[in-house]
Amino acid sequence: MKGIILAGGSATRLYPITLAVSKQMLPVYDKPMIYYPLSTLMMAGIRDVLIISTPVHLPAFESLLGDGSQYGMNLQYKVQEKPVGLADAFILGEEFIGDDNVALILGDNMIYGSRIERILKASSNLKKGGIIFGYKVADPTSYGVVEIDDKGKAISIEEKPKEPKSDLAVPGIYFYDNQVVKIAKSIKPSARGELEITDVNKVYMEKGQLQVIPLGSGYAWFDTGSADRLSDASDYVKAIELRQGTQIACLEEISYKNDWISKEDVLKNAKKYGKTLYGKYLKKIADEEVKSYSKIFDNELFKKQ
Ligand code: G1P
Repeated sequence: MKGIILAGGSATRLYPITLAVSKQMLPVYDKPMIYYPLSTLMMAGIRDVLIISTPVHLPAFESLLGDGSQYGMNLQYKVQEKPVGLADAFILGEEFIGDDNVALILGDNMIYGSRIERILKASSNLKKGGIIFGYKVADPTSYGVVEIDDKGKAISIEEKPKEPKSDLAVPGIYFYDNQVVKIAKSIKPSARGELEITDVNKVYMEKGQLQVIPLGSGYAWFDTGSADRLSDASDYVKAIELRQGTQIACLEEISYKNDWISKEDVLKNAKKYGKTLYGKYLKKIADEEVKSYSKIFDNELFKKQ
C-alpha cells in the first residue's frame, strides 16, 4: 500500500500564524506537525509516501524530510496548485499510486493511542473497498459524520451536517483500494467548490464496501486546524512525553521497529538532534533491548488449576 499526506490549504483559521508559514510545519509541542501524520503512515507499515502541498510551501517539506532514506522510506513530492478538495489527492497522485491501494492522511490530523499500530497495520492490509474511522465527539457538526451498523458497515455519511445522525466524526485518515482514483475522478465539486472525501466515501458506502472502525475512548484524535486544537495537541504530546520519558511520532524509532533502518542509522540520526529530548531518546532506544510484552498473560497466575 502507498500513502499520501495532503499538506496544502491556506489555513485561514490560523491567521496570522500561517500568513507566511505552512500550517503543517507549525510545532506540535516539540516536532513539526507533519511528523505526526507521517508517523501514522509509518506505523501502518507504509514506506512509499507522496507529500502534496502548495507551490510556495512544498520546498520546505522537501528540505525537512528529503527523500526519506534516513527513515528507510521513499518520499516523493507533488504540488497542488489550488486547494480544490481532499479527493484531488488521488487525481494528483494517480501516477504515484499506480496499481496499488492507498492511504490518505491529512497533514493536520494526529491519531494516537494504545495498540493503534495494530489497527493501522490491519487497515493497510485491506483487500477491497475502503476503511475509515469513527471517533465520538461532543460536536460533530464541523466534520464528516458517519452512522454505522453493528458490524461497522457505514449506513449514512454526511459532510458537516447541521443535524448529525450520529456522534461519530470521521478523522482525516482513509484506506482505499485502487478504485479510489476512478471514484475521485467521477465525483463533482460540492457547494463549497471542493472534491469532498465524503463523496468518495459515499460511493464506497453505496457499493456496500465502506468499513468503519470506531476508535474508543482510549484514543486521542486531534485535528489541529485551529489555534485551540493546536494548543490542545501540544499539551497532550507534552504531558505524555514528559511523564513517560517517551516520544510520540519519533520517525526513526518507528522505522527501527519496522526493521527499515539499523541501530547504526538510529545513532547516526541521533547526532543530528544534539542534546534535545528527541536526540537523547534516539540514543536510548538504540542502546536498549526492545521488550515485547507479548507473554504477559502466559504465566501460572492465569492458568486454570
Ligand atoms: C475534512 C473532511 C471531513 C473530516 C475532517 C477531519 O474537513 O472534509 O470529512 O472529518 O477533514 O479533519 P475539513 O478539514 O476540510 O473541514
